[in-house]
Amino acid sequence: MKFEFPSKFLWGSSISSYQVEGNNLFSDWHVWEKENNLQQAGKATDHYNMYGYDFSIASNLSHNTLRLSIEWARIFPKVDEIDQDALEHYKKVIAELKIKGITPIVCLHHFTNPIWLANERGWLNPESIRYFVKYVTEVVSLLKDDVKYWITFNEPLVYLYNGFIEGIWPPGEKSLNSSFKALRHITRAHILAYKEIKRIYGNQEVKVSIAKHMRYFQPCKNFDLGQNSFVTSIRNQLFNYSILDRLNRAKTLDFIGVNYYCTEYVKASGFLFGQECKDSHHQNKKNYLDWNISVLGFYKMLISLKKYGLPVIVTENGSCEVEDSAYQQFLIDHLKMLAKAINDGVDVFGYLWWSLTDNFEWDKGYNPRFGLAQVDYSTLARNIRPFAFIYKKICQENSIEID
Ligand code: BGC
Repeated sequence: MKFEFPSKFLWGSSISSYQVEGNNLFSDWHVWEKENNLQQAGKATDHYNMYGYDFSIASNLSHNTLRLSIEWARIFPKVDEIDQDALEHYKKVIAELKIKGITPIVCLHHFTNPIWLANERGWLNPESIRYFVKYVTEVVSLLKDDVKYWITFNEPLVYLYNGFIEGIWPPGEKSLNSSFKALRHITRAHILAYKEIKRIYGNQEVKVSIAKHMRYFQPCKNFDLGQNSFVTSIRNQLFNYSILDRLNRAKTLDFIGVNYYCTEYVKASGFLFGQECKDSHHQNKKNYLDWNISVLGFYKMLISLKKYGLPVIVTENGSCEVEDSAYQQFLIDHLKMLAKAINDGVDVFGYLWWSLTDNFEWDKGYNPRFGLAQVDYSTLARNIRPFAFIYKKICQENSIEID
């Protein structure tokens, strides 16, 4: 039986500036990689120069949509200095998508900050809100005629968890207090940016949201006397829904962007929201990074969003694998679940694979491969993976075979 996706469904993939552009020398991640002896992003996939080529790949794969991000530190390399060439560059990038008939979804913050902001205590500094809105004003005023969808922040909770609780990303803090403080500032920055974008567009149509990482949390069943279920429910509320609740109350979400990858088993620990159980007794299918794959989790997360009564777009879903058959399986299984969620009443208007090409996977470097196109980092050649052609057919036909 065939399942038809809604008409005008947005099909495509996602990328982010720092992970593909290369030479983002004014961003805090650049300093972080060096200071922590991590693999460095360097020239990445050289997307900054090869964007036209990459967009041809998207177009050849029948994408009608591409999500990308702007590198804040390129626009504002110094606190009070705007780089006009960088603005011009992004203008050309968006124009190129328009020529190719691809709808852009533009993200304004995908994990990285300008070095000058990091040196001023980053998101712990209340001034970060004003700086962010100033940057938003510049970029949105420039691109407003050709962009209808904006994402202010990508995965704010992942950013905060890794950067302020685990300390494995910049700024490397390990403090619950700091994470809540930065969360307050980011939340405020979103709310003000939302209002600013609406002001700039006036009567013109524009949709604004965040891309929310949703993780399917399950209590670890080993030696559980109920406490694992308890911490799991707290983790679920804090991590998956608290910011959506807050932004929805402030009426600053026009839709919900969902990034979904995996399930996580949770066990009680010193923390109120427990910790991930990484023991081998969980028998899930795993990807290259050992993430627990769960298609049911994808369905459950989508269904759980019905309570907001907002349209939903999957702004990221994907995997890093070794075998092409595993990518294909992941894609088909998740799209079937997406179809089921739509059938069961979730108002989904698009799906974007993470990612268009292989790219720089933050602290994990270049080994995990998420791309529809494989990148040979010595020559920068892009080779389309076979499963991408299966995806292309689905995008073209706007339908999928379900059992
Ligand atoms: C992030 C991407 C990242 C992907 C795979 C998402 O959480 O937005 O930047 O590459 O997951 O880890």
